[in-house]
Amino acid sequence: MKIGIIGAGNIGGNLTRRLTALGHDVSVANSRGPHTLTALAEETGATPVPVEEAARGAEIVVVTIPLKAVPDLPSGVLDGAADGVAVIDTNNYYPQQRDGRIAAIEDEGLTESRWVERHLGHPVIKAFNGTYAQDIVDRPRPAGDPDRLAFPVAGDDEAAKAKVRSLMDELGFDTVDAGGIDESWRQQPGTPVYGLRDGVESVTKALAEASPERPADHRGQGQVA
Ligand SMILES: NC(=O)c1ccc[n+]([C@@H]2O[C@H](COP(=O)([O-])OP(=O)(O)OC[C@H]3O[C@@H](n4cnc5c(N)ncnc54)[C@H](OP(=O)(O)O)[C@@H]3O)[C@@H](O)[C@H]2O)c1
Repeated sequence: MKIGIIGAGNIGGNLTRRLTALGHDVSVANSRGPHTLTALAEETGATPVPVEEAARGAEIVVVTIPLKAVPDLPSGVLDGAADGVAVIDTNNYYPQQRDGRIAAIEDEGLTESRWVERHLGHPVIKAFNGTYAQDIVDRPRPAGDPDRLAFPVAGDDEAAKAKVRSLMDELGFDTVDAGGIDESWRQQPGTPVYGLRDGVESVTKALAEASPERPADHRGQGQVA
């Protein structure tokens, strides 16, 4: 499958490693340009590209950058993707440590992924946002293994969600359907499922136990970003 990855850090780098190992055709981009991705390209066989080209022909695009950088992506960044492209949003809002206060998320009560979606102009599937980056390479297990980790997946486009869940299965993880994007607060930072390393049953229970109220340490202070 042709897959575009926007962001080549902890998550984007490890997804590039695993998806190329599985035989997928991966294009990867960062903010500084393809010439800064030669080491990752040599290691994995992925194609480094300018961010404007990352989605070209892709059936799945992963957006995995600091949340505050999402509005900096070029407009039309998803133009040229394959029909029915599934766009994975791994991003989290860290107002106090990284992103600054984002008024639309806090004042309008948007989920983080709904806000991302608005900027991208395309529906997203929220996945891997609570996954330790290193687990992507260290913890894949075959289906049925009792130690297989499960991750929540939220999204409104059922066909795209199914495509993403199937890819995550191929990567060695179970998934739990966490509902639509308006419900994706259940897997945001500070919730019981965020960072949980366990199987389907625990993940399902943790999603059910989430509170819609944003925890104090995940609320922005001061300036509006
Ligand atoms: N780290 C984790 O374990 C983890 C787990 C789950 C979810 N997340 C979430 O996933 C997202 C990515 O996390 P990460 O830890 O992988 O981040 P990271 O290591 O800081 O890497 C960020 C990547 O995004 C790229 N980037 C930044 N601005 C960009 C832009 N305008 N256009 C294109 N690329 C841009 C950076 O490129 P340059 O280096 O060239 O600037 C870099 O490759 C974050 O929202 C994070 O909260 C992280």
